[in-house]
Amino acid sequence: MKVAVLGAAGGIGQALSLLLKTQLPAGSELSLYDVAPVVPGVAVDLSHIPTDVKVTGFGKDDLASALVGSDIVLIPAGVPRKPGMDRSDLFNMNAGIVKNLVQGVADNCPDACVGIITNPVNTTVPIAAEVLKQNGCYDKRKLFGVTTLDVIRSEAFVAELRGLNPANVTVPVIGGHSGTTILPLLSQVEGVEFTEQEINDLTHRIQNAGTEVVEAKAGGGSATLSMGQAAARFCLSLVKGLQGQETVECTYVEGPGDHATFFAQPVRLGKNGVEEVLPYGELSAFEKQCMDEMLDGLKSDIQKGIDFV
Ligand code: 2OP
Repeated sequence: MKVAVLGAAGGIGQALSLLLKTQLPAGSELSLYDVAPVVPGVAVDLSHIPTDVKVTGFGKDDLASALVGSDIVLIPAGVPRKPGMDRSDLFNMNAGIVKNLVQGVADNCPDACVGIITNPVNTTVPIAAEVLKQNGCYDKRKLFGVTTLDVIRSEAFVAELRGLNPANVTVPVIGGHSGTTILPLLSQVEGVEFTEQEINDLTHRIQNAGTEVVEAKAGGGSATLSMGQAAARFCLSLVKGLQGQETVECTYVEGPGDHATFFAQPVRLGKNGVEEVLPYGELSAFEKQCMDEMLDGLKSDIQKGIDFV
């Protein structure tokens, strides 16, 4: 496997690259690209960790070399939120960055699976899709918005509330990756019952967890370490799938379009990327209401990305 991380010198990129250096299967290659001049140093630093994963750093003029031959491209590049900002406030800065990097994917590794981390994910994923379409290489089975952070946060918060081992807690999260478009399906957490109040509070906390980090970092950015872990989990599941061992993750993909063109829900990952978009099961009355209330916002986030390209 060759995995490229675009934006590898940033807070998410470095955490993610470290986790991939220590957890990718033996014989893999990790290609680190960033416009920041520190990126060769990040690669040298990681290369001193004794695992059978070859790390190479590429500076701003070397995007093509970073991408050629990649099986998976992960994109955390871009600017993070500051207190008081919504993810959509990042659109002006990050939309162009994603557009250019995905053009690089189209030019250099058009068959790669692409995982978008750059916010606003609800909009940057449709941007990526449009760029790939324009270049005649869009395959909806291979483009993902990484929403795994919503899943791991849900698992952490549920475990914390009930005193459980988080390793034994599974929470599907559907919709998008911003505010009320994040919909944790707490009614489907096995072996755990919640009161109405708990469901309200937990849902609200999960939807605002990114802001919780932004405020705690007080101007120093948004989630990097938990996002790095979430993206690594997603990438390692995708690697397993591509290598023939199917896995299931919730991720923001172009699905059957029952609700919106792009929608996060459980998908079966296999040799071709998305093998199947899975049904997410019965929703509770509360979840149905949340779903109804989110859809207009999600659709307009998607349209904004299409219009941009
Ligand atoms: C978050 O949810 C950075 O979007 C990321 O914290």
